[in-house]
Amino acid sequence: MSDEALWSEIDTWFEKRLLAPDAALDAAVAAGTAAGLPAIQVAPNQGKLLHLLALAIGARRVLEVGTLGGYSAIWLARALPPDGRLVTLELEPKHAQVARECIAKAGVAQKVEVQVGRALDLLPRLAGGEPFDLSFIDADKESNAEYFDWAVKLSRPGSLIVVDNVVRAGRMLDAASTDASIVGTRRLAERVGADRRVSATVVQTVGSKGHDGLLVARVIG
Ligand code: SAH
Ligand code: DHB
Ligand code: MG
Repeated sequence: MSDEALWSEIDTWFEKRLLAPDAALDAAVAAGTAAGLPAIQVAPNQGKLLHLLALAIGARRVLEVGTLGGYSAIWLARALPPDGRLVTLELEPKHAQVARECIAKAGVAQKVEVQVGRALDLLPRLAGGEPFDLSFIDADKESNAEYFDWAVKLSRPGSLIVVDNVVRAGRMLDAASTDASIVGTRRLAERVGADRRVSATVVQTVGSKGHDGLLVARVIG
């Protein structure tokens, strides 16, 4: 068995035991496939990790950069209280439309605001509002350092910031890479490491989404 097949089988084994069957989340994945969206949403176990992190910190306001078809948004929105808010930013109108439909079908539409546009244009407009307790950064990787900086600015002491896809099967080690996503990932890590406003770590992951990793940062008081 290939490493990838083994990681996937282990993900499936635990999912069967720890994650309840979920028609709304399955429907979100199916709707994305039907609409021709790339299947790059977080894995079910990762979606549940985001959900548990939001619950653990009692998050009331969550920011997401990169909505796709709304899969991770549904996981996050479900962790919010009835008056909680998820603001999720998406460049592609088609992705946002699929997401709005799936979020509505999942019954969390009243907690979720999908904003369409370039995240770097939308983020400044969020300044001045209530701070976000949790931010999930999962859009184009080349702008990750800027997204992270905005997430810190839009946070409060104790807020969490999670960044997806910081390992990409180890390609981030290639200092000579000209791939914008690799350059962006390396720049993100250097910036976060030097940022006195946060305390951060990276955990590598293997599973149904291959070999990747999550950066988790806590905003310091
Ligand atoms: N968080 C989603 C997956 C997001 S995939 C999930 O796990 O379910 C990344 C998304 O970021 C894509 O939908 C892509 O269109 C969007 N994106 C890419 N560049 C962007 C930008 N500059 N601003 C906002 N969204 C962007
Ligand atoms: C890609 C983007 C993602 O956010 C992800 O989780 C996996 C892959 C991509 O652009 O290839
Ligand atoms: Mg991702």
